[in-house]
Amino acid sequence: MSPPLNVVILAAGKGTRMKSDLPKVLHPLAGQPLLSHVLTAADSLSPQRICVVYGHGGEVLPQTIQRQDLAWARQEPQLGTGHAVQQAVPHLDPEALCLILYGDVPLTRPETLQQLVLIAREGAIALLTVRLANPAGYGRIVRDARGQVLRIVEHKDASPEELAIDEVNTGILCLPAGKLAGWLSRLSNNNAQGEYYLTDVIGMAAEAGERVLPCHPGAEWEVLGVNSRQQLAELERLHQGSIAEGLMTQGVTLVDPARLDVRGTLVCGRDVLIDVNCVFEGRVVLADGVKVGANCVLKDMEVGVGSDIRPFCHLEGARIGARGQIGPYARLRPGTDLAEEAHVGNFVELKNAQVGFNSKINHLSYVGDATVGRKVNIGAGTITCNYDGANKHRTVIGDNAFIGSDSQLVAPVTVGEGATLGAGTTLTKDAPPGQLTLSRAKQMTIPGWARPVKKSVRSEG
Ligand code: UD1
Ligand code: CA
Repeated sequence: MSPPLNVVILAAGKGTRMKSDLPKVLHPLAGQPLLSHVLTAADSLSPQRICVVYGHGGEVLPQTIQRQDLAWARQEPQLGTGHAVQQAVPHLDPEALCLILYGDVPLTRPETLQQLVLIAREGAIALLTVRLANPAGYGRIVRDARGQVLRIVEHKDASPEELAIDEVNTGILCLPAGKLAGWLSRLSNNNAQGEYYLTDVIGMAAEAGERVLPCHPGAEWEVLGVNSRQQLAELERLHQGSIAEGLMTQGVTLVDPARLDVRGTLVCGRDVLIDVNCVFEGRVVLADGVKVGANCVLKDMEVGVGSDIRPFCHLEGARIGARGQIGPYARLRPGTDLAEEAHVGNFVELKNAQVGFNSKINHLSYVGDATVGRKVNIGAGTITCNYDGANKHRTVIGDNAFIGSDSQLVAPVTVGEGATLGAGTTLTKDAPPGQLTLSRAKQMTIPGWARPVKKSVRSEG
């Protein structure tokens, strides 16, 4: 039987260069804390246990990442990466394989981690390394003449010959938890930084005759860490770039892949087109043939086949049926549900409104807490007065109704099927089906009325 997998995530460091009150690993990348990305990668391996080592920033970390299934090990003070892993040891199954990840290295692909676990399952110590054009600052991988890994030397402790090595330690490794615990207990901090280095474990392992097998990530960005706001922004773009790449490979047209932000899950059907500067948050599903115009923000949305979302829309928590026409400048708020072929035009806000087939709300309206039937036409400037200052009330509009422009529907109120409201109506009682209802002061004309004339100012001598 193969041993279970335990994952340790190191996240106790200060992150001084972020210059932030927020612990570094809680800074968001693609809308999620860095640490959450690492947890998602860890979860993909279905480990028996995950232990997060935290310290700097105190309890904010466990409080923010609300997960009952994690073990949290506090490291206080922070005496180095080896000392950090030591704090996790009591939470580990000694029979398990232990995979060590960093909370500030968010983009490692599950396939890469899987590869490490496979090597460790075959009895070697798996070490993720990478060759860098500029290896400055990193621990270097020291190999013997036969290419076997002997040890890792930290930049600050390295000789000039060692500094010339371009293969560096990413920090990510996988090895048997029991052996790891033994080696950790023998670490010393007799080095340039006075820290307990996790990397010294590799030298001990090699000395003990263990096989240390390096493997490499598919892409360099998989092992990049975040130490500054600049690096965070760089990783954000890299990550967004790979999301854009995936969408295009899958058949989505991105007018400019560099101007797309997905901060959650974006699911697209065939022949979807996304224009520039759109932001997708939460879970967004765009069915076949959907077009999203420039500068739209969509959060937790479901958009039906062939719908056309024009530029500058803000859409959240709503469903748009097939062949809808939305915007430009439309706002859909949570609870809105549009049936097929609904039209919602410019400067229209909908909240918790259910709108039937082919109904049109094209200009400057607020429709909240409303049920709108099929083929209803809501004229420009119509407002549902849904709030009396204490409670919300519903407006119900029947099929084929026609609401004249600039009407106010004072809820709770019902407009019957096929009813017409005259423009400018303030509806306070139900409008019967099939008839014209209007509330309007009678128009009058005053014969012989003359406009006032401006008084001329004359100086009296
Ligand atoms: C470490 C490695 C180095 C490697 C580099 C890759 C050691 C000694 N060195 O160096 O070989 O090339 O990462 O980025 O391991 N942390 C704690 N507690 C501590 C210290 C660190 O939790 O006491 C965490 C940090 O939050 C961070 C990670 O461990 O997530 C790495 O720490 P960092 O100080 O960045 O290590 P480096 O000196 O960069
Ligand atoms: Ca680092």
